[in-house]
Amino acid sequence: MKNKISAIITAAGKGERMNSSVKKQFMLLAGKPIVIHTIEKFLKADIFYKILVTLNPEDMQFARKLFFNEYKFPQNKFIIVNGGETRQQSVLNALEVSPSDRDIVVIHDGVRPFVKVEEIKEIVDIVYEKSAVSYGLPVKNTIKSVTHNEVVNTLPREYLWEIFTPQAFRFQIIYDAHQQSLDTGFFANDDAELVEKIGVPVFVLEGSPENIKITDKFDLKIAEAIMSKNMNSTQKRR
Ligand code: CTP
Ligand code: MG
Repeated sequence: MKNKISAIITAAGKGERMNSSVKKQFMLLAGKPIVIHTIEKFLKADIFYKILVTLNPEDMQFARKLFFNEYKFPQNKFIIVNGGETRQQSVLNALEVSPSDRDIVVIHDGVRPFVKVEEIKEIVDIVYEKSAVSYGLPVKNTIKSVTHNEVVNTLPREYLWEIFTPQAFRFQIIYDAHQQSLDTGFFANDDAELVEKIGVPVFVLEGSPENIKITDKFDLKIAEAIMSKNMNSTQKRR
């Protein structure tokens, strides 16, 4: 049987740090909502049986219109999922949708529109061998642990990577990791940490520094710069 690969794109957050009236996943970059840029990368990869998108119930109607009327995304490829209070809960809700139907799942933040199509394909190739894979990058700055504005200690930089998405897993591993965290009340910022917690090694691939998470207004400026650089280079190639 052909392996069934699905994607979960998380877009159910409130974007509190962005502090804007329109939620950041729907803010425009080059005239297009950020989450649309992100989803288009996954459609272009053309390897997904289903793309699950987590949304806040209050955005459902608007988002459905955006996806299926305005951008004409193929409805049969998509499953819209109610997000939860936390990102972890949103991902769990998406994992609970027809779990027996999936072998590999790729999880990605809806607000990382600069992921490359090749990166999506590469992580899927590698997850068959490694079972749990994340993108990351060695940190460039010195990282110190600080409490009440005082340095506690300096962490050895040669071992430090910042970790981002996409992350890819064999379905059963990420599903078990989420279930166990639910049972024990363990909370993590990313899915890889839940997998680490159940003792499964996570392989890290070096990703592109352009794959930023748009978190606040400053990131939006960087995103605009990346977008116009990418558009200029596409025009030059023509
Ligand atoms: N997300 C989600 N469900 C949540 C919280 C977050 O699906 N309950 C999604 C966000 O929409 C975003 C991604 O997970 O695409 C990464 O989260 P983050 O950057 O923290 O976004 P927000 O939680 O929306 O922002 P903030 O933390 O500033 O409120
Ligand atoms: Mg958040």
